[in-house]
Amino acid sequence: MTTASQEISPDHVADYYNRLTDLFGEAAGGNLHFGYWPHPHDGSPLGVAADRLTDHLIGKLGDIAGRRVLDVGCGSGKPAVRLALSAPVEVVGVTVSPVQVERATALAEREGVADRVRFVCADAMTLPFPDASFDAVWALECMFHMPSPAQVLGEIARVLRPGGRLAVMDVVLREPVAARDHDAVQRGRSMFAVPAHIELAEYPRLILSAGLRLEELADLGDDIVRPSMEALGHAVSAKPADFAAAFGVDAERFDTVVAEWAQITVAMDLGYVILTAKRPD
Ligand SMILES: C[S@@+](CC[C@H](N)C(=O)[O-])C[C@H]1O[C@@H](n2cnc3c(N)ncnc32)[C@H](O)[C@@H]1O
Repeated sequence: MTTASQEISPDHVADYYNRLTDLFGEAAGGNLHFGYWPHPHDGSPLGVAADRLTDHLIGKLGDIAGRRVLDVGCGSGKPAVRLALSAPVEVVGVTVSPVQVERATALAEREGVADRVRFVCADAMTLPFPDASFDAVWALECMFHMPSPAQVLGEIARVLRPGGRLAVMDVVLREPVAARDHDAVQRGRSMFAVPAHIELAEYPRLILSAGLRLEELADLGDDIVRPSMEALGHAVSAKPADFAAAFGVDAERFDTVVAEWAQITVAMDLGYVILTAKRPD
């Protein structure tokens, strides 16, 4: 079973992203998610590989022309805007970070899609939308920030119309954390505002318990996690003082903290789930 560290609340997550959104965004071409390198000798930068991962998930939504899509944990809006540029859809994004709402709204305006794409500050644990008000929902790399993934999936199932599809991408644990790594993992999770990672084997049950029918689940971790962590490591090393300040870590200790986290991440053997599910008709 995944055990959540309860002290990390949506308010902590909001504060974390208010401080780190611009720095992460610079590293990943405006995205706040990992990249995807399905071909071994592809040297694309993180931003290109992150857009590729967004496109992979856009493909999983199916035909959504003319539909209304909810983007749970929308970040600074890059994936929602990319989705809206790829198809005639309406998108509503939610995030707990007011800074992200500002960045995302400005991006939608710059890209000429503000009439179809809007962003609101809201907690996905209690979505401020009526039942069955969306044709599709996607949640890109945000489930690991949720104190209760079961509650969020229940909310998603509630706002999805019958027959509507959910697409998720999430960093997961392939195996439970070993007892010897427990303290280091908790320190890392506090630093990255992660209450807990969901275990890979737990996902089908979570989806089913929310009243959704699992369609597809794949772990693409080998092509996503390690190369993304390396790319992020380079971005952090290029601006150590800025990242240390944003993480609230003493600049002199920052190298040690980053090295410990890199080591523990390898020990944790993280996977990366891409899944789709449907609300039954
Ligand atoms: C790693 S970022 C991913 C952002 C975006 N989906 C992307 O792929 O670029 C995680 C996002 O989840 C959002 N988030 C975390 N907890 C949330 C909650 N309880 N309710 C709404 N959004 C939340 C954060 O504010 C942030 O936008």
